[in-house]
Amino acid sequence: MDFMAFFLTLLISSSLSLLVFFLLRSSRFARRKLRLPPGNLGLPFVGETLQLISAYKTENPEPFIDERVARFGTLFTTHVFGEPTVFSADPETNRFILQNEGKLFESSYPSSISNLLGRHSLLLMRGSLHKRMHSLTMSFANSSIIRDHLLVDIDRLVRLNMESWAGKVFLMEEAKKITFELTLKQLMSFDPCEWTESLRKEYVLVIEGFFSIPLPIFSTTYRRAIQARTKVAEALSLVVRQRRKESEGGERKNDMLAALLDGDGGFSDEEIVDFLVALLVAGYETTSTIMTLAVKFLTETPLALAQLKEEHDEIRAKKGESEPLEWNDYKSMPFTQCVVNETLRVANIISGVFRRAMTDVNIKGYTIPKGWKVFASLRAVHLDH
Ligand SMILES: *[C@@H]1O[C@H](CO)[C@@H](O)[C@H](O)[C@H]1NC(C)=O
Ligand SMILES: *[C@@H]1O[C@H](CO)[C@@H](O)[C@H](O)[C@H]1NC(C)=O
Repeated sequence: MDFMAFFLTLLISSSLSLLVFFLLRSSRFARRKLRLPPGNLGLPFVGETLQLISAYKTENPEPFIDERVARFGTLFTTHVFGEPTVFSADPETNRFILQNEGKLFESSYPSSISNLLGRHSLLLMRGSLHKRMHSLTMSFANSSIIRDHLLVDIDRLVRLNMESWAGKVFLMEEAKKITFELTLKQLMSFDPCEWTESLRKEYVLVIEGFFSIPLPIFSTTYRRAIQARTKVAEALSLVVRQRRKESEGGERKNDMLAALLDGDGGFSDEEIVDFLVALLVAGYETTSTIMTLAVKFLTETPLALAQLKEEHDEIRAKKGESEPLEWNDYKSMPFTQCVVNETLRVANIISGVFRRAMTDVNIKGYTIPKGWKVFASLRAVHLDH
């Protein structure tokens, strides 16, 4: 997956309006004499974006960050993707930024992204609606739900898919299929069928839109993505309407959609559909890429692979071939958990998050001016020696 292509589209879509923004900001900023973190704004317009991109094209992309951290410290000012940006490679600052979501910082994404995700998706939501959706999502990550539902579904879906593997498979494709099926099951209790497979085909087109130039006139990929998004939303709307009718008749399934339907205050159908689309986007590409990378990393690390196999063989020896994994089995895989954690650390699928300061924010002796972009780099923290 090429995140640079994604970032480039952000750059193209935002550069012109942001030049104006930049000029306005810098004059206002000069007047107020705030103490910004040290750094370079680079050239007007492109700032240091080209340096960042060329760094990302090398095998080791860290020079951009390392160089600046060595010169300025872990909190520095730069100018990337069309705007002056405070860049944080500091774990405490990153935590502070994420903990003050909706209070001091808000998420900030260009319209090309919101057209694909929908206005009400979690990424773009703000304030109290965001809080309600977020706590609802998190309630599905608690241990009793993982134990009683998720584990059972994963076991069944992985077996089902692996049985159909004959000879060579393309692992990334298989991982995507499993991830999508699992997500649909968790969200709205659908088992794999023709309907889910045709929804997935539309879905792939939506995802492709994220990596295209976000102008319908120029890009057929983007145009196709928007059309596919409409089809996906229509299909999901039908499901939501149907389920709303059933729940009024007293039926209740145990899934995310049920929780959304009886969430206090009530979400509209449109809000629910956007939310489901966003969760599918969030889970699909990221989870399947991570799963594939775990296998790649293990292949490159025979010692770890051997230890992992040993742990799994021990569990397998205690169980029959068709007996599903249970919570206790899952809990007795400490080394597997280390492999998962290390994969997440090294892979860094989401390299960081963009936020915008809602007010002047003082941190570590510096001020991030109101309206400025902030990039909390997770990658820089994960790869710090
Ligand atoms: C997990 O979430 C479910 C449903 O939201 C709830 O009924 C249960 O009490 C929660 N369990 C824990 C341990 O928080
Ligand atoms: C893996 O990461 C999670 C989340 O950060 C942490 O709670 C857990 O202790 C880690 N597990 C191991 C085995 O290091």
